[in-house]
Amino acid sequence: MQHIDLSTNIAGIKLDSYLMNASGPRCTSLQELEVIGKSASAAIVTKSCTIAFREGNPEPRYSDLPLGSIQSMGLPNLGYKAYLEMVPQLKSLGKPVLVSISGFSLEENIEMVSAFQNSDIDIIEVNFSCPNIPGKAQVAYDFEQVETALSKLTVLGDKPLGIKLAPYFDMSHFIAMAEILKKFPVKFITCVNSIGNTLIIDPETESPMIKPKGGFGGLCGDYIKPIGLANVRAFRELLPESIQIIGVGGIKNGIDAFEYLLAGADAVQIATCFEKEGANCFSRIENELKAFMDKKGYNKLSDAKGKLKPL
Ligand SMILES: Cc1cc2nc3c(=O)[nH]c(=O)nc-3n(C[C@H](O)[C@H](O)[C@H](O)COP(=O)(O)O)c2cc1C
Repeated sequence: MQHIDLSTNIAGIKLDSYLMNASGPRCTSLQELEVIGKSASAAIVTKSCTIAFREGNPEPRYSDLPLGSIQSMGLPNLGYKAYLEMVPQLKSLGKPVLVSISGFSLEENIEMVSAFQNSDIDIIEVNFSCPNIPGKAQVAYDFEQVETALSKLTVLGDKPLGIKLAPYFDMSHFIAMAEILKKFPVKFITCVNSIGNTLIIDPETESPMIKPKGGFGGLCGDYIKPIGLANVRAFRELLPESIQIIGVGGIKNGIDAFEYLLAGADAVQIATCFEKEGANCFSRIENELKAFMDKKGYNKLSDAKGKLKPL
């Protein structure tokens, strides 16, 4: 096999490979984050943090499904100050650290983004798309709120800031969102979060698979790959190159990652597959991606990035 270079960057922060973990599974405690640091993940991505420690929703709140998962975790996390304190230890593992922030109000997001802007963190991802908090609307589906939030959050410092978006399903929404993003120095978007408020029913028990919110939860994994690909593709065509795109949704092998590359993703994240398989998934998928690219005669990401061929 020829040498295949999977290195990439987000806002100029170098990543040694195309794949990293997604905020969510196995990235809440220092111990879990250290495991990611020692794996082939290109970066260490934290669980979305809130102002204070959260237990999260009652269990069962996650369920494996044949083609992915459903979950309504409710943002269990240690509180942002714990992640702020961990930054030096995480940085010592020698790869970029991305913090995911998920406040319940703009004020909370401002407090947390300001704190991380004054830390040694490399990249900040603000989660505008947590569908699992009872009674809370997703910022990502309220375009006025998105615009107000970006006007305040993008002026707090020089570290690269991006936002994690919910999936969109209507062309008018892609266009409206892209117009807003273009007005601000957003460095990247991460597409997509889980598809909110889905229901999986177990016919044997005649109950939903998870307990919170009457069983309504975020759908992840294979089920959502076509939606993730469409969101990456639509935004890649609508946004300037200065706004990069991290693809996420249903990546469990090298070919899935290659499809996101064709759609135009600058890097990809992995959630459900990491939850199910553990940290070995990063090296496995990396090797599979390299083998597939080799078969195609490609030796670097730019050979295929965004190059989906029209029929
Ligand atoms: C157990 C679990 C917890 C998650 N928690 C978060 C979170 O805290 N913040 C976030 O932005 N996304 C969260 N997500 C969504 C993932 O980051 C990802 O966007 C989604 O699962 C789609 O990727 P996948 O198909 O690889 O699972 C979570 C997903 C799972 C499965």
